[in-house]
Amino acid sequence: MILVYCIHRGIGKIWADILSQEFGEEQVVLSENVTENIKDKVQIVVCWKAPHRMFHEFPNLKLIHSLGAGVDHIFEGDNAVPGAKIARIVDPQLSEDMYEFVLGILLSDMKRLTTYRDQQMNKEWKELTYRTCKDVTVGILGLGVIGRLVASKLSKMGFQVMGWSRSEKDITGVDCFSGPEALEVMLSKTDYLVNILPLTDRTRGFINKALLEQLKTGAYVINVGRGPHVNDKDLIDAIDENQISGAALDVFHQEPLDESHPFWSHPKVFLTPHIASITNIKTAQSQVFQNIRLFREKGEVNNEVFGDRQY
Ligand SMILES: NC(=O)c1ccc[n+]([C@@H]2O[C@H](COP(=O)([O-])OP(=O)(O)OC[C@H]3O[C@@H](n4cnc5c(N)ncnc54)[C@H](OP(=O)(O)O)[C@@H]3O)[C@@H](O)[C@H]2O)c1
Repeated sequence: MILVYCIHRGIGKIWADILSQEFGEEQVVLSENVTENIKDKVQIVVCWKAPHRMFHEFPNLKLIHSLGAGVDHIFEGDNAVPGAKIARIVDPQLSEDMYEFVLGILLSDMKRLTTYRDQQMNKEWKELTYRTCKDVTVGILGLGVIGRLVASKLSKMGFQVMGWSRSEKDITGVDCFSGPEALEVMLSKTDYLVNILPLTDRTRGFINKALLEQLKTGAYVINVGRGPHVNDKDLIDAIDENQISGAALDVFHQEPLDESHPFWSHPKVFLTPHIASITNIKTAQSQVFQNIRLFREKGEVNNEVFGDRQY
């Protein structure tokens, strides 16, 4: 039996309907309809942000499939059940959408578009300096499925691109770095830092005072990874001390962002509500179907996530 849990309830129902059509209604159950007597029948969970330790209630659980590219919600919720495989969505459209989002933020800041909007509100006619792609260095944290594509396409757009990952990489047009010393070199040359790391025990709080101090003075931070990558206070301090020029944040420790959070009203922080690239049900469903079939037939999955790395 396949259990569907999704924090966005409407989306959970959509996934349950799609899976029912594919595998039969009797095979699929929405989390709110689970009763004690069917808990031992659940072998596969398809989910986004389930409550803490929820999946430990299913003694025969064998596969946990994330409904997004990130799997931090599984590890954070202590839902990685021993012996159960974990799989995630790897959708080329997600990477393309992320590229377009990052490009939009870069160009908006380089060409001062939000400042012009503010000037317009004040009927202020004032020319500002702007930057050109070839003179801008973008440093990307994380060269996985998404980071690699973003790096490669930004390089083709004419940006100077550097990227950092755990293992060494070779990407045409991108200066690739790995290891702590190399990170320091990359940060010192970076005009725009783009975080596309997964959230793990190793990367939590990674964008902190120590890292921000290593960035080129006046650099701009773009966080599209996860909120807990950033130490919020350190980021605000770095902006207020003019160590960095500002930040565009798509992800937050708590989502929706608490009304009292200083990010809301900070003039140098640009916020979006976790929309940089969203799983498209149409393009993602075939790989979830395929993974469920592959798992049932051979006990294998594509895009497997390994517990020791947490990504
Ligand atoms: N805001 C949004 O809308 C949105 C949408 C989609 C995804 N995301 C976020 O983007 C993240 C990345 O997605 P992805 O599919 O590209 O992930 P991925 O394919 O798993 O790639 C992760 C990359 O991070 C590197 N990495 C992991 N831990 C590291 C560490 N401790 N030090 C240095 N590098 C490290 C990996 O290095 P190796 O290559 O050496 O393993 C890899 O290059 C997701 O986990 C999610 O949080 C956000």
